[in-house]
Amino acid sequence: MCGIVGVLGDHEAAPLLVEALKRLEYRGYDSAGIATVNGAALDRRRAVGKLVNLSDLLVHAPLAGKAGIGHTRWATHGAANETNAHPHRAGPVAVVHNGIVENFRELREELAGHGLNTVTDTDTEVVALLTQHYLAQGLAPRDACEQVIARLTGAFALCFLFEGEDNLLIAARKGSPLAIGHGQGEVFVGSDAIALAPMTDRITYLEDGDWCVLTRQSVEIFDAKGNRANRPVKTVSIDATHIDKGGHKHFMAKEIAEQPTVLGEALSYYLTDAGIALPEPGLDFTKFDRLTMVACGTAFYACLTAKYWFEQIARLPVEVDIASEFRYREPPIPARTLALFVSQSGETADTLAALRYCEDKAMIASVVNVPESSIARASDIALPILAGAEIGVASTKAFTCQLTVLFLLALKAGLDRGTLTPEEASEHLAQLKALPGLFNAALAASPEIEATAQKLAEARDILFLGRGPLYPLAMEGALKLKEISYIHAEGYASGELKHGPIALIDQHTPVVFMAPSDGLFDKTVSNMQEVMARAGKVVLVTDARGAKAAAEGTWRQIILPEVSPALAPILYALPAQLLAYHTAVAKGTDVDQPRNLAKSVTVE
Ligand code: F6R
Repeated sequence: MCGIVGVLGDHEAAPLLVEALKRLEYRGYDSAGIATVNGAALDRRRAVGKLVNLSDLLVHAPLAGKAGIGHTRWATHGAANETNAHPHRAGPVAVVHNGIVENFRELREELAGHGLNTVTDTDTEVVALLTQHYLAQGLAPRDACEQVIARLTGAFALCFLFEGEDNLLIAARKGSPLAIGHGQGEVFVGSDAIALAPMTDRITYLEDGDWCVLTRQSVEIFDAKGNRANRPVKTVSIDATHIDKGGHKHFMAKEIAEQPTVLGEALSYYLTDAGIALPEPGLDFTKFDRLTMVACGTAFYACLTAKYWFEQIARLPVEVDIASEFRYREPPIPARTLALFVSQSGETADTLAALRYCEDKAMIASVVNVPESSIARASDIALPILAGAEIGVASTKAFTCQLTVLFLLALKAGLDRGTLTPEEASEHLAQLKALPGLFNAALAASPEIEATAQKLAEARDILFLGRGPLYPLAMEGALKLKEISYIHAEGYASGELKHGPIALIDQHTPVVFMAPSDGLFDKTVSNMQEVMARAGKVVLVTDARGAKAAAEGTWRQIILPEVSPALAPILYALPAQLLAYHTAVAKGTDVDQPRNLAKSVTVE
């Protein structure tokens, strides 16, 4: 992961670098650092932990200069300490890096042979040392960097800054994303366009293998073969002020609360009076006999939920896979397969690699939140989820927007394949349009959810159970809880309980049942009874009908409005998110930036 930034500006670079890093902190927050060239002098400041520590340091030890680079770190190689923090410096060069240099051990040995020894535990330091080595041989910075880049294996986005050069940055991308921002007599580099939004909205996305030489007056881009490359300058619309909590205590709270609005916006985008209107032509489900869906984490659970919809509504066989497994398994991709990739960031390294595997084997569609992301750009068809910027590391509104778009796709598939009548589709759409209102109504359960969370905060282990499309939601609820509250949680299919996890049940184990009063409700109630018979504490999340039928003996009840069975996983995501949020708040953990995590996982 990690976020990188570079500035050749008209003003002091340090405040711009820190502002850009603030917007990249979602990519990692183990340490942060900047380097600048002031006149000829290259200097750097680095601090362990959140960016605020670097900002504090800069108050006491400012860095002058209008050219600089910056980094926010998610540690891969080496502990989160100052020595391992970027920028890494070797003599006249400083470098920031996002990715993993896989051949760093060989390079380290080779460099030691030249008397250049590493002092950090990172993979990145060899990049700085190797550049120093080539510079010492008399190569100009651009030639030295060209040589260095050719020697690296693995994934990287790099930005180099040189002593004595206050009008030069060199940047390169392979695997990890990188964007160039164009100003008036200024130029910027960033891991994404969001980082550069306060400085410019004119962006060039580098292609894989590209490297570039930047001055305030010129941008020269070269492809992997060293040929000059023309990459378009795009005007992107990113609200420069989006990193605002809007009066909420945390971004996660804001993003949970935004769901009725963003779901409504996604629906208006995809629905016209005539029905479902996909923004891109060409997704005709009569052309496909099967669907392969690939994603990671929360997006993977969205895919698992959608499998129920595609199979039931469109009778389309569906395979769902975790990207990190799919990419190395080399699965056969039969003809007439649609390969669908789901990713909030659109930059997840494993998902992107899985997509690359499917290129030339299948039509590629993606469901993404960032329309200019690498996954979107590599897809034949990219469908936006329109959730808006999601800053909290735990995904919330992106999940429900992913589900909404996937549900619309399942309806489209059903209509195309003739397994769904227009009347049935209209009925589903009417229910879908009611969903933002149901989210607002469900917020009435917030006080009970918060009170329940206060109790859950005392637990060591928590189980989440659900059936049918509520089974993936149970796994999502468990993931949400563990990632921000650090309480161990597992999500299971209710029917699996008796095949093992029931051994965990005792009076200390809360079990959250996601159980709308649907056709499988009675089965779920039987599983609930099995838990209560063993003194387990049941949190029943259901509707009024379900509560009337089965609340007796449960520990706590969270009552939601009734919703059509197909759409229940979208609505029931709300209590899952709020339970995790309030449990984390009760435990006093860092809700928006939980330990060890980062928002955009650009390393495998
Ligand atoms: C969990 C979470 C992660 C992401 C996963 C994939 O709350 O956010 O599990 O869902 O890292 O990220 P994207 O969707 O950006 O590919």
